[in-house]
Amino acid sequence: MPERYHPVLVVLHWVLAACLIGLLFAGSIILAPVANDDPAKMISFRLHMGLGLVTLLLMLLRLAVRLTTSHPPRIDTGNTLINRLGPATHWALYILAFTMALSGMTFARASGLPDAVFGDGAMPAGFDHPARLVHTIASRLLMALIVLHIAAALWHQYIRGDGIMARMGLKRR
Ligand code: HEM
Ligand code: HEM
Repeated sequence: MPERYHPVLVVLHWVLAACLIGLLFAGSIILAPVANDDPAKMISFRLHMGLGLVTLLLMLLRLAVRLTTSHPPRIDTGNTLINRLGPATHWALYILAFTMALSGMTFARASGLPDAVFGDGAMPAGFDHPARLVHTIASRLLMALIVLHIAAALWHQYIRGDGIMARMGLKRR
């Protein structure tokens, strides 16, 4: 078994971390509070939807590489619950990130947003679609899980001292 994740997985982990954290911040702080008829919102819509779609494609690529490459053995913390929590959190991160992209595409499409933002269609007054609520709820769960994930990485690195950060780094495998 290798000591580190495959370099493609490492690069995509950090690129996707930046994209997802950026989308979460900008979505909830810059995008959602502004009314749809505010002209300044158009640029935020373009960036958010464009980056959201790129993120989805990169996540699909990462999942494919993740399922077809060997990865480092699981760290044994000596606690069965924590040992199970690690991989469970990782899969939940994948699921929530996919839910974000798919729910965003679903309600944007149902409201005619792609035509308004990238073509010359009319801007919808609001987003009256169940997937809009899914997008909000999943975003809050993803934020919480990312905080937990970062806390766990710091706990491993600095309290247990098991060198976990190097596994997601680019030194030779
Ligand atoms: C600054 C923030 C982050 C830090 C410090 C960090 C750190 C790490 C580390 C050290 C690992 C390796 C775990 C191991 O070897 O068992 C890891 C794995 C992982 N991270 Fe992060 N991470 C961060 C952000 C994120 C974000 C935003 C996501 C996605 C939403 C994410 C998703 C994952 C996944 C799914 C794995 C499991 C490995 C895999 O399936 O390929 N991470 N992270
Ligand atoms: C892939 C990761 C994505 C993340 C992490 C993300 C994150 C967010 C967040 C946090 C919000 C604010 C939710 C709220 O506070 O209620 C939001 C709103 C929104 N997102 Fe996303 N998003 C993603 C992808 C997408 C995609 C692919 C689309 C469409 C193609 C999209 C379209 C929208 C729209 C239209 C809004 C609502 C704006 C409003 O209510 O005015 N998102 N997103």
